Amino acid sequence: MSFLACRVFENEGKESKVNHQLVQMETDELTAGDVLIRVDYSSINYKDALAASGRGKIMKQFPLNAGIDLAGVIVESDNEAYQAGDKVLVNGCGIGEQFDGGLAQYARVKSEWVIKIPERYDARQAMIIGTAGFTAALATYRMQVNDQKPDMGPIVVTGASGGVGSIAVNLLSKLGYEVIALTSRKSMHDYLYELGAQKVVSEDELGMSDKPLGKALFGGAIDNIGGKTLSKIIAHTQLWGNVASIGLAQSPDLEAKVFPFILRGVSLLGISSTNCPMPLRTKIWHQFGRELPLPDFEKIVSKEIALEDVSPYFDELIDKKHHGRLIVNCQ
Ligand SMILES: NC(=O)c1ccc[n+]([C@@H]2O[C@H](COP(=O)([O-])OP(=O)(O)OC[C@H]3O[C@@H](n4cnc5c(N)ncnc54)[C@H](OP(=O)(O)O)[C@@H]3O)[C@@H](O)[C@H]2O)c1
Repeated sequence: MSFLACRVFENEGKESKVNHQLVQMETDELTAGDVLIRVDYSSINYKDALAASGRGKIMKQFPLNAGIDLAGVIVESDNEAYQAGDKVLVNGCGIGEQFDGGLAQYARVKSEWVIKIPERYDARQAMIIGTAGFTAALATYRMQVNDQKPDMGPIVVTGASGGVGSIAVNLLSKLGYEVIALTSRKSMHDYLYELGAQKVVSEDELGMSDKPLGKALFGGAIDNIGGKTLSKIIAHTQLWGNVASIGLAQSPDLEAKVFPFILRGVSLLGISSTNCPMPLRTKIWHQFGRELPLPDFEKIVSKEIALEDVSPYFDELIDKKHHGRLIVNCQ
């Protein structure tokens, strides 16, 4: 069967190491798996943008279809736990990195990575959540397991207008936390207030110092940008607060002193959506609409893009020309 895919190729000996192209390919060219899925929706995450633009080294082999998440319908299954017609999603597990991913009309995956979409949301909404929303939810879960409570003070969310940030702001505020949204874009203030932030600020307005142990300003944090901002947030976190480290949009560097950890019991929680164990991954996806609220889908999705039009969006996402979630209609 022939279908359209956004496929990433390696450039031999050129300055830019990869290029992506929209190509027709056959299902028997896909990487191995026991389930074939017709992909209805995928999305563009920061990692997809790095992978397809070549601005980050994400893919482990070439050529490979981009897309670290997908939602659709099973068309063939060699595992009797899954039938043709089942509505499913896959995120992380190496798709779009080591195995063909979701930015294609079909994907073949291992059935052990497949999650049946709960009835409370559909394939399109599953990809508005996508890896970004799953990761925000995973961070929230880990913070709560580690006893993060609303009365410990506000949670600061960095890179707030991005995909992870938008869903983190929305979920945390619905769960009763006071949320301080940290954004570099003035134009995003109204949007972030609409998602539930109590305060929307630039970094300068947070009142953080360079001291290794600053005044306790935050109950905790969800950090998408890393670098100096993350270091300062750790130093200004309240007794027993949790800081979830998700991203590196500013920098992968982290310079910290041990004082916040040994004097305030602050926890730095590592969040890895790609490597989340399957039982926890399934639990988190099933929490949406139950223990976790459903996000405000239509506020958070900023664009629905046809698969054949995805090319410019990879660079544009990294260059902060979009906000919220970009979903891709693959059919
Ligand atoms: N650990 C995991 O499993 C996991 C999963 C998903 C994503 N991530 C990582 O989390 C980060 C966010 O992902 P995303 O999908 O939400 O990306 P995104 O939609 O592009 O959002 C990133 C946001 O970060 C801020 N930002 C971008 N460049 C910046 C810079 N140079 N300095 C300071 N802030 C900057 C911007 O927010 P403002 O305009 O509001 O400032 C931007 O909207 C990325 O680093 C991504 O790789 C990690």
